[in-house]
Amino acid sequence: MKLTYLGHSAFEMNINGKKVLIDPFLIKSPDYDIQGVSDIFVTHAHSDHLGSAIEIAKKTGAKITAMFELANYCAKYGVKTNGIGLGAWIDYDWGRVAAVPAFHSSSFDDGSYGGNPCGFVFDLSGRTLYHAGDTALNSEMKIIGEVYEPDAAMLPIGGTYTMDIESAVIASEWLGVSAVIPMHYNTFDKITVNINEFERRIREKGKMPAIMKIGVPAEI
Ligand code: NI
Ligand code: MN
Repeated sequence: MKLTYLGHSAFEMNINGKKVLIDPFLIKSPDYDIQGVSDIFVTHAHSDHLGSAIEIAKKTGAKITAMFELANYCAKYGVKTNGIGLGAWIDYDWGRVAAVPAFHSSSFDDGSYGGNPCGFVFDLSGRTLYHAGDTALNSEMKIIGEVYEPDAAMLPIGGTYTMDIESAVIASEWLGVSAVIPMHYNTFDKITVNINEFERRIREKGKMPAIMKIGVPAEI
């Protein structure tokens, strides 16, 4: 599986040629080639996560998977959707995905309700990845570690709206992951971090700080 960071909390997974997007807010990857995207996962309704999901789904025919309320919102635009609830698995021809709790909020730009926020666990035959969405450090991460046993986690580290580096280090231990991929940092002033501090503190725990360069695929 090839993972490409697209900036903020956006990632592309290339699973045996299947292109899958997570939180496609592509402000840092304006030239991203959407051709061939088959599935889009959106963790919550905030515009820095919903991003261009609907536009991409319209152009490519990709299916959007999100919490029930957010999926229903997307469906109004005539795109294919998978509504999911917390704790459920959905099967795809490239793997299976569970929605897990995130401690955050989820509303549209006009303030209307966007359902619960969530994270996703991707079970990709032999590799398990956890994308936390926007969240605080929370005890569910112990459950996620015990039940889903992720190998690597994409964790927000920018603070202000989500957990910060200090919390991400604790989360990495609760999740039992060997690698941490930082996200949701340095996009805006309010989420500026010193990435060297993240690197040092994750290494101190004997884990790999997998700091990804935007647009550069990595084998995971
Ligand atoms: Ni948010
Ligand atoms: Mn956000």
